[in-house]
Amino acid sequence: IKRIGVLTSGGDAPGMNAAVRAVTRQALQHGIEVYGIKNGFAGLVEGNYKKLESYDVSEKLNRGGTFLGSARLPEFADIEVRKIAVQKLKEHGIEAIVVIGGDGSYMGAKKLSEMGVNCIGVPGTIDNDIASTEYTIGFDTALNTVVDSIDKLRDTTSSHYRCSVVEIMGRHCGDLTTYSGLATGVEDLIVPEIGLDLELIISRIERAKAKGKRHFIIALAELMTDSHELAKTIQKRTGIETRATIIGHVQRGGSPTAFDRILASRMGAYAVQLLSEGYGGRCVSIRGNELVHDDIYEALDMPREFKEDVYNLCKKLS
Ligand code: F6P
Repeated sequence: IKRIGVLTSGGDAPGMNAAVRAVTRQALQHGIEVYGIKNGFAGLVEGNYKKLESYDVSEKLNRGGTFLGSARLPEFADIEVRKIAVQKLKEHGIEAIVVIGGDGSYMGAKKLSEMGVNCIGVPGTIDNDIASTEYTIGFDTALNTVVDSIDKLRDTTSSHYRCSVVEIMGRHCGDLTTYSGLATGVEDLIVPEIGLDLELIISRIERAKAKGKRHFIIALAELMTDSHELAKTIQKRTGIETRATIIGHVQRGGSPTAFDRILASRMGAYAVQLLSEGYGGRCVSIRGNELVHDDIYEALDMPREFKEDVYNLCKKLS
């Protein structure tokens, strides 16, 4: 293999740059040329490619976001759109690609592999929602951002004897909420894997209030309900002044933690190794601190394991 491409796709995640750096330097050291594809699959279709040298990825390891740019391109599901991409890659002599992104990006990578362009998926998303891997790149950094936000929120919530509903990202995965809940000692947490039971939340608050507790933090995974409406209901039902805080896209930014930099570096280098061994349609995962690779369809079909022990411990200790 002589020339590969690398792209970042879907929602950006801290550590994507570290992964691109690892892909680039690992490839160059093995005599493989690397092209950075701008703006995910959109750039792939447009032929928006730039040759990357070692210095192009200098001082990127510690930077959040993705210097390649990212985008979501639902049109890539259309075979005609993919045919254009394959043609553009041929024109540039790019034989294979490392695709850094979430599950949507994995589908694109698999489909391209089936059309003769070997792709390896690297899990880059703050959501930690790819079942085959214990950790995705960006999750740890986002988790630390959420923990920092909730710690700050607790200061003001307790000063005012209030209740705070804090909305946390994760799409349909409760990992960010569950882990940050345990790390900050929230009074209650609401995640998609368990569901929302309003009566239970109210009764827990009432019980704690009766025991003298004066402030509450409730971690709520996004897309489950309107956090402002929930805050209003809690206030009305318990008499405790309640505010909603949506942490939002701050969760996607910032310098990656050491954990994410190391994970991204290991995964990026491994992806190049897999491409040079002729693999395609596979994705990199980490299980028990070992790097492994899985068929992308199988990885996406695996049932996602909810961290029920972490969830239960959070509830028990609050
Ligand atoms: O997948 C990452 C993520 O941040 C999710 O947690 C969230 O639901 C979504 O992306 C938000 O997407 P957008 O940036 O397009 O609003």
